[in-house]
Order: sequence, then structure tokens, then C-alpha cells
Amino acid sequence: MYLLKSLLVAASAIATCEALPSLQARDITTQQLDDYSFWVQYAAAAYCEPNYVSKAGHKLTCWAGNCPQVEASDATILYDFSNTTSTDTSGFLAVDTTNQAIVLSFRGSYSIRNWLADATFFYTDPKLCTGCEAELGFWSSWTNVRDNITTILTPTLTKYPDYELVIVGHSLGAAIATLAAADLRHSGHKATLYAYASPRVANPTLAKYITNQNQGGNYRFTHTDDPVPNLPLQVMGYAHVSPEYHITAKGNSSVSTSEVVVYQNGDDPRGNTGLLGIPDLLDVDAHHWYFERADGCLGPGLPFK
Ligand SMILES: *[C@@H]1O[C@H](CO)[C@@H](O)[C@H](O)[C@H]1NC(C)=O
Ligand SMILES: *[C@@H]1O[C@H](CO)[C@@H](O)[C@H](O)[C@H]1NC(C)=O
Ligand SMILES: *[C@@H]1O[C@H](CO)[C@@H](O)[C@H](O)[C@H]1NC(C)=O
Repeated sequence: MYLLKSLLVAASAIATCEALPSLQARDITTQQLDDYSFWVQYAAAAYCEPNYVSKAGHKLTCWAGNCPQVEASDATILYDFSNTTSTDTSGFLAVDTTNQAIVLSFRGSYSIRNWLADATFFYTDPKLCTGCEAELGFWSSWTNVRDNITTILTPTLTKYPDYELVIVGHSLGAAIATLAAADLRHSGHKATLYAYASPRVANPTLAKYITNQNQGGNYRFTHTDDPVPNLPLQVMGYAHVSPEYHITAKGNSSVSTSEVVVYQNGDDPRGNTGLLGIPDLLDVDAHHWYFERADGCLGPGLPFK
């Protein structure tokens, strides 16, 4: 159901629509809705502590009940990471034999609001393309764990040559996932990106480079007026990867196909970008809900600050 084939069909549908001389935003299909609300469960799983502190072979579970389809799949951890880097990059690499996928999932930050409020948003050259600049904190969060991940990932991709590499994350995790996907594609891998509630990670040149990488699709989701995707600000020189899948459903409720509107341009004023001036980081209600409570496994001891 979530196999490469359905994603390719979705991707070709997007390619077809892109060719039409129309500015019309589009709704999504039932199959797409199923896919998008499935992959967010992998992003949600990265918030659940056992999934980022266990040994290889651990079966993925979510005590908050927000990854039932992952739990029902034959999905086990190959490698997980947390607490070892200055950026505290956390998450897991898993193999899912039911959905024939190798999944790399990054956890969001427990303190995304403080993190964003304090961040200086410096650029660094990720050496992916000429004139490309990435946000330093997000890029370091990836490069700090890159070697250990690729050591496991490379033989795994060889072992499962027909499996799809899927990279997911919510919030800060989505920012790291976006740059990880860009980098791994740059190294010759094919990777599909599902980025839920991602901040901007790139200057316009890098955002365009990632958008045009032809090695697996980019699925970047925003929800109504979630302030997090509007940081760092466009006026600071940052831009979004395209397309944008803008969820217009209200929080805490199921999402219908007509409530996910696709904009081909990442910073379309009709999408999340247009709904905010200066983002209000006190109003983060929309940030939690991406088809489900994406960060439901935030522990009571580690509250969303
Ligand atoms: C992370 O490190 C801190 C202090 O170094 C420790 O208190 C905490 O238990 C560690 N967490 C995990 C998940 O290992
Ligand atoms: C990478 O793996 C080594 C060996 O297991 C470990 O000692 C080190 O802490 C890991 N580094 C990171 C950044 O996770
Ligand atoms: C959604 O549920 C959470 C937790 O129960 C609650 O704090 C929040 O206010 C709700 N949001 C909306 C938009 O109803």
C-alpha cells in the first residue's frame, strides 16, 4: 500500500499537473492521504523514548498510540541515536519489511520554541551546490550523526536493494530530515522526504536545488498557521523546499483529501507563509497536529517548553 509504486504514481501525477499552465492549487487523492498520514507515524515514533535509546532489533512502538500502522508492520530498529552530540540529534534508522522501506526518522526538539527563539540562524556552506547555504544548526545536527548513520545505512541499502529509503521528521526533526535527504541524494542515494512542520533550512539557491533533486519526492507539510514553518523568516534570506502540502483542517480532527492543498511554490502566499506576519511562537497549537498528534510521545518529564 505504501510501496514505491504508489509513490511513483503520485509523483507522476504531480509532474503532469506541473505541466499544466494553471495556478490552481490542488487537493490530494485518497491514496496520497493514506500515505501522508502513514509516514507521519514514523516521525511521531521518533519522539517515543524506547525508539531512540534501544538496541538494534527493537520493535518500534509508540506509547501515545500514534503509530498504530508502524506497530502493525514488521518494523525494527537497526540503529538509534540520542544524547551523543552537542546538538542532541536523536532518532532511529529502521527496516520495515511490510512496507519495504528503510526509514530514517529524526526526533523534533522538546524545546522547539526556545530553540527557535534563541537561534541565530547562521549560514554554512554544505558543499552541495554552488551558492548553496544551509542553516548552521540544522546542518550540524545532521553532520554530527552522519558518519554513524551511513556506516549502517550503506550495507542496509545493499542488503535490501528493492526497498525505498524514506526520511521523515516533525518540526526540528523535519529540518534535519530535509538536509539529510539532500545530502544523501547528493551522495548518489535515492530518498523520499516526508517533512512535517519543518522550519526553513536553506537559502533560495539550496531550496531550489533540493526541490529539483530528482531522486525521490519531497513532501513538505504545513498546518494552517503553524508558526514554526515560517522561521527563519524569508526576510532573513531563507526559503522553503517545494512543493508545500498545506493542511487546512483544524487541529485534533481527522483530515480529508480536500483539506490538503498542494502549492508548487514553496513560499506561496496562499499557503502557510501567507497566513502569518511575524510568527507568534506562543501560539503553537497548530504545530502539534499533522494528521495526528505528531509529538504525542513527548514525556511528561520533558514538556514542550
Ligand atoms: C542524556 O544525558 C543526560 C545527562 O548527560 C542524562 O541525564 C539522560 O538520562 C540521558 N538520556 C538518555 C536518553 O540517555
Ligand atoms: C558513533 O558510534 C560510536 C561507536 O558506536 C560511538 O562511540 C559514538 O558515540 C557515535 N557517535 C555519535 C555522534 O553518535
Ligand atoms: C487539541 O488537544 C490538546 C490536548 O488535548 C489541547 O491542549 C488543544 O487545545 C487542542 N487543540 C484544539 C485546536 O482543539
